[in-house]
Amino acid sequence: MIKVAIIGCGKIGLDFHAAAYMKNDNAEIKYFCNTSIEKAETAVKRFGCGKAVSDYREILADPEIDAVSICTPNSSHAKISIDFLNAGKSVFCEKPIAATFDDAQKMQTAQHASNKILAIALVNRYNNGVNLIKEYIESGKLGEVFHVYASFRDHRSIPGLGGPFTSKAASGGGALIDWGVHFLDVIMYCLNDPKPLTVSGETFCKLGKDISGYVFDYMWAGPPVADGVYDVEDSVTGLIRTTGPVISFNGAWAQNIAHKEKYIDFMGDKGGIRFEFGSNFTFYTTEGNKLVSFEPEFEKGNSFENEINLFVAAVEELESDNDLVPANHLPSDINTVIITSRIIQAIYDSAEIHKEVSLV
Ligand SMILES: NC(=O)c1ccc[n+]([C@@H]2O[C@H](COP(=O)([O-])OP(=O)(O)OC[C@H]3O[C@@H](n4cnc5c(N)ncnc54)[C@H](O)[C@@H]3O)[C@@H](O)[C@H]2O)c1
Repeated sequence: MIKVAIIGCGKIGLDFHAAAYMKNDNAEIKYFCNTSIEKAETAVKRFGCGKAVSDYREILADPEIDAVSICTPNSSHAKISIDFLNAGKSVFCEKPIAATFDDAQKMQTAQHASNKILAIALVNRYNNGVNLIKEYIESGKLGEVFHVYASFRDHRSIPGLGGPFTSKAASGGGALIDWGVHFLDVIMYCLNDPKPLTVSGETFCKLGKDISGYVFDYMWAGPPVADGVYDVEDSVTGLIRTTGPVISFNGAWAQNIAHKEKYIDFMGDKGGIRFEFGSNFTFYTTEGNKLVSFEPEFEKGNSFENEINLFVAAVEELESDNDLVPANHLPSDINTVIITSRIIQAIYDSAEIHKEVSLV
């Protein structure tokens, strides 16, 4: 049985992390922590366990705690993760790793020094469909994959306008770091991490600038904060040359086109895959002189539960053997996923100078 703490009792901390730990027989939630204590107290009542605290530093010295889930805004991920790693706890931190690549590197350094696990909740790596796509690519069904294109665009869908999601200081960016991180991470995972060579990007901060005048139907993490900050991109475009395929993408939290597109196209010389993000995928190929396409069947499963279950098992294994070096065997281990943080930083850097950035 491992004992865990949830840091950040918002949407993701409770509905996904806490809910998944509750279903795992080998984990017990000992603390719910939130800066505004009422949210932590509500969580204690809702799940019927744990103690409510408002400052995570109260948990650092508790020898019973083996691991924590960090579910706070992006800019706090680095400090909280590093403090827990230095205190000898394993960490499961929400995506993106951090608001900047610099912070992500500091987290990686702390993980190396700690000998504990630092995994990032890039949940699609625990999705059965994504793992099947990876198998299709690895087994050569697509032939040479030469181009991968992602589109993550929605109509006026800025989250929490004026709150932490739309302040660069709190989040590190907008549509790219919030949604794009998932898409770029799936691409890098399925392609086995080709080395990025050059990165070119542009970002646009247009539709949310007038917070009180922004027109929308529904707002995740809303309602809007009229006197809040909006200084992140609502749309983005980019091109990444790698040692493998070229990757290009368009993303928009908000656009004046009422059409939602969330997909990744893997284009090979023998076959191609369109992955409808979070759903099924279609495989396109040819057989003889016929065009063939089909949707492979797979068990959907619950990616959030999969990632928590694998994390709990990895922490148990580590805690039962003090000499064990945490192997990078979790699919979203910091040492594996940090490459996407580097790419995202390079896209922001390129957009700022309006020029291509070299990563070699
Ligand atoms: N994996 C996914 O698909 C996914 C989906 C949504 C959000 N997220 C990520 O999860 C994180 C949280 O997002 P959310 O939607 O749950 O936000 P949220 O605003 O609903 O919750 C964040 C909570 O953290 C609390 N908090 C802030 N600073 C704190 C601190 N220092 N100590 C303790 N509590 C603190 C806030 O009061 C709030 O209750 C973000 O990094 C976001 O990018 C991931």
